Amino acid sequence: MAYIEVRNSSKSYTMGNNRIVANKDISFEIEKGELVIILGSSGAGKSTLLNILGGMDTNDEGVVQIDGVDIAQFSAKQLTKYRREDVGFVFQFYNLVANLTAKENVELASEIVRDAMNPIEVLEKVGLGHRLDNFPAQLSGGEQQRVAIARAVAKRPKMLLCDEPTGALDYQTGKQVLQILQDMSKKEGATVVIVTHNAALAPIADKVIQMRDASVHSIQVNPHPQDIMTLEY
Ligand SMILES: Nc1ncnc2c1ncn2[C@@H]1O[C@H](COP(=O)(O)OP(=O)(O)O)[C@@H](O)[C@H]1O
Ligand SMILES: [Mg+2]
Repeated sequence: MAYIEVRNSSKSYTMGNNRIVANKDISFEIEKGELVIILGSSGAGKSTLLNILGGMDTNDEGVVQIDGVDIAQFSAKQLTKYRREDVGFVFQFYNLVANLTAKENVELASEIVRDAMNPIEVLEKVGLGHRLDNFPAQLSGGEQQRVAIARAVAKRPKMLLCDEPTGALDYQTGKQVLQILQDMSKKEGATVVIVTHNAALAPIADKVIQMRDASVHSIQVNPHPQDIMTLEY
């Protein structure tokens, strides 16, 4: 059994008299420690899928099995616990607390889970050991995103879910952020899922799940993922 198994998952939203099918009969597997890219153009259903994986949204039908447990059957209370303890989120716009320093933002993890990582150690891991006492406004976009990654990682989550993590960053900074996410998977054994519309990123992943019109269009496995630093996009 794979670490993450989604089987025949569907989700639609009702807006007035309209029904929008956001995910249609989605199936795939993700192994522990894999770096997976969910690729597709705007509106393809990527964020809906990521939100369902992360317990922020629920599907209408289908199985979402994480580490042997079907979270699609969870109660609201179970989902809250799952989101808090098992999932690390990274969003396009960082979502740091503006009046807390980098270190304090990462320390928030220890208020959510019991055995959170040492904030200084995690910030050193993302190359920000020298920026511990800076506030978000004193950091560049890329640095803020690295703090957000550190905060997500500090919870020791089962998986790291990233929705367009480089969407607001310039090319070089985006590469640094992707390098950190690739290292988390390759060196730390973290399971990392990245949503992006940028097809040029596909070579860096172990697996690429391409979505089109709410469905999985293709699943491609890269036996030899490319190192970010050698990637031109
Ligand atoms: N909460 C929601 N309520 C209504 N429609 C939604 C909601 N979330 C997403 N949608 C719709 O579902 C479709 C897929 O959206 P989304 O998953 O955000 O796509 P992507 O992330 O690939 O751009 C879109 O048509 C979007 O408008
Ligand atoms: Mg989206």
